[in-house]
Amino acid sequence: MKPNVEILPDALALANRAAQLISTQAISINNRFTIALSGGSTPKRLYELMADPNAEYRKHLPWRRMHFFWSDERPVGPGDSESNYRMANEAMLSRVAIPEGNVHRILGEKSSAQDAADAYESELRSFFGLANDELPRLDLVLLGMGADGHTASIFPGSEVLQERERLVAAPWVEKLHTYRITMTLPVLNNATNVLFLVSGEDKAAMLNELINGEPGKFPAQAINPNSGSLTWLLDEAAASKLHN
Ligand code: 6PG
Repeated sequence: MKPNVEILPDALALANRAAQLISTQAISINNRFTIALSGGSTPKRLYELMADPNAEYRKHLPWRRMHFFWSDERPVGPGDSESNYRMANEAMLSRVAIPEGNVHRILGEKSSAQDAADAYESELRSFFGLANDELPRLDLVLLGMGADGHTASIFPGSEVLQERERLVAAPWVEKLHTYRITMTLPVLNNATNVLFLVSGEDKAAMLNELINGEPGKFPAQAINPNSGSLTWLLDEAAASKLHN
């Protein structure tokens, strides 16, 4: 499926556009709305905006029927400065009235990253009521892209790129000398909507490679929802090296 690519003037406009898209999607679904959040610096502004009492999104978003998941996490506890949960909690979740049961974080504090991945896989299976061979269908997955072409915690050359059975994996990331916990490609690609947020000039060269270069070379290129939509929101700095 061809992605929708939108270029916004700057990081703030990008966050506003993302908040607008999320509100529209969440409102259009009458039932529970399931969203996987990403870590990184780009979505922080989006989360702050969604919870901002002076912006319009907060009052329109159906917080009580929104269920929050994470596409990836670091192997740390919820209070650690590295925690993706902590970032989203401080920027958004703790600022709005959300039932505690709607926040489905990855338990990065488990004794190993593999234990955390196993526990999250069980959480997904039980929340979505999945049989062994079924995949969860998240309404929306938010993703970022690293300057090396990684997305979620799927890095170039990672064995997770080949994972077809597990819903959540715990890959070793050599360049960071750490394990990460990440949703796998079958889960990410089974979402109804996938939204990439990419901001900053340091992403420009990789973005051009991803969109105009050889396909299948970088993890972010493996995101291609089976029967869903794919949208890339870029700011002008990130899009500055795109040529058509
Ligand atoms: C994480 C991520 C990761 C992130 C990209 C982009 O836990 O770090 O989920 O995949 O989205 O690295 O991050 P920035 O938005 O900080 O550039």
